[in-house]
Amino acid sequence: MVIPQHVAIILDGNGRWAKSKGMPRNYGHVRGAKNLEVICEDAYHMGIKYLTVYLFSTENWKRSREEVDALMKLFRSYTKTCIKTARDNNMKVRVLGDPSALAPDLQESLRKLVETSKDNTGLNFQIAINYGSRDEIVRAIRRVASDCRDGKLLPEEITEEGFSEYLDTAGIPDPDLLIRTSGEQRLSNYLMWQLAYTEFYFTDVPWPAFKKEHLQSAIEKYNNRDRRYGGVKEE
Ligand code: IPE
Ligand code: IPE
Ligand code: MG
Repeated sequence: MVIPQHVAIILDGNGRWAKSKGMPRNYGHVRGAKNLEVICEDAYHMGIKYLTVYLFSTENWKRSREEVDALMKLFRSYTKTCIKTARDNNMKVRVLGDPSALAPDLQESLRKLVETSKDNTGLNFQIAINYGSRDEIVRAIRRVASDCRDGKLLPEEITEEGFSEYLDTAGIPDPDLLIRTSGEQRLSNYLMWQLAYTEFYFTDVPWPAFKKEHLQSAIEKYNNRDRRYGGVKEE
């Protein structure tokens, strides 16, 4: 079986999963964060080299103050745990998104997580937090424009590869497989540039219940896809 090099996940359904158990939404987020630690290890042992997960979108600020606060609190503890897991499991962590809207102490923990794990050679783990694809592209365009203004770049020198280097995912290969849990079939502003040729897999399983066997099923389905990249199928 071919193992996709890069798997991106929209981990959705924490709230609905909790509700189905008669529990508050935040319980779903707590269990979802625990599950992420497990799936991270499973992914690595299966041979996945890059795993990119969506933790909080630029649109998620629209949720109730109470839920946003609970999520931020959870990200604080998750980031601290992740510093240890990254060390123990040789994981290299990168952050996608605009951290400037996050609380200063959370920004600091994220910086520490990235800094302390930067030389690790195991799983490349990207966490998207306060991430939105449109926001990422606009931030990239601003930097391209200022490089043009400063005479470092000519407009006609801008290429697809060159532009990719201005994105938060600079240096990271595009995802081969995108998984979205919990039934919705949309991108919700996730990695729109990077997913141009990615295979999509949607499952009804809510994120806290998503286990290794579900990841394996997604990879099996991926293996049956006929990836053409615009070419023709080889006989
Ligand atoms: C995904 O679960 C986690 C975040 C978006 C932070 P949701 O919170 O979206 O759960 P549902 O989709 O409402 O069930
Ligand atoms: C997408 O899930 C964002 C994350 C998983 C962090 P949402 O639950 O926020 O997406 P919508 O609102 O259903 O599109
Ligand atoms: Mg959701």
